[in-house]
Amino acid sequence: MANPAKLLYRQFSSYLESKGFHLIKSLPYLKRNRLMQLNRMDYVRMSCLELAGYEVYTKNIPGQVAELGVYKGDFAAEINTVFKDRTLYLFDTFEGFDDRDKGTEVSKSFSTAMQDFSDTSAEKVYARMPYKEKCIVRKGFFPETATGVSGPFAFVSIDTDLYEPIYQGLKFFYPQLSKGGYIFVHDFNNEEYKGAREAVIRFCNENNIGYTPIADIGGTAIITK
Ligand SMILES: C[S@@+](CC[C@H](N)C(=O)[O-])C[C@H]1O[C@@H](n2cnc3c(N)ncnc32)[C@H](O)[C@@H]1O
Repeated sequence: MANPAKLLYRQFSSYLESKGFHLIKSLPYLKRNRLMQLNRMDYVRMSCLELAGYEVYTKNIPGQVAELGVYKGDFAAEINTVFKDRTLYLFDTFEGFDDRDKGTEVSKSFSTAMQDFSDTSAEKVYARMPYKEKCIVRKGFFPETATGVSGPFAFVSIDTDLYEPIYQGLKFFYPQLSKGGYIFVHDFNNEEYKGAREAVIRFCNENNIGYTPIADIGGTAIITK
């Protein structure tokens, strides 16, 4: 006879699966304490950030860290937690998408670029960062706001949704990425923002580099050097 606990587990996990959720174990073979609260946001995205951080620290990869596309700072706060002794650059208009990026987006049918990300502010984001003294906010249109910023970078998150700023972000950050560093590009496998995939593939083809798609909610692609 089947073990009743196993039967219950199977029924429960099948039910969750039918709703698009999956029960998974939390990296049991790591044999070290997890750094982050994993019951928030996106388990796979958060875990990959934590693992990338572990690699950067254990291999002494030099460099600052950055997020391009911060919005309310949810993921930025996690980056700041993992890389607590590294300078963290935070790039965003803090007023939502810029009209200069929307043109390409709509003309190439990548997305409607209608999502509103204006209900935030640079001050509020800065105030919620756990290690504020390490944070530098660059408010305004990227790549204009990158003037005067120089690497090297050990970790970069690009999460601007739209084709143009993703492509510009890769052009700016990749040459300044340390050997062994990481760039996470969110939405690579998100059908609602098709430009993300286009920007990554164009940049990688032009520079003869590879990427790894991961199974987080947004469908991130990870680029390394
Ligand atoms: C999806 S949200 C970022 C979400 C955030 N990374 C998180 O995980 O919580 C996208 C952000 O990209 C910003 N953005 C898009 N294009 C930009 C550009 N050219 N310059 C600066 N910020 C931009 C928008 O203002 C918006 O806040």
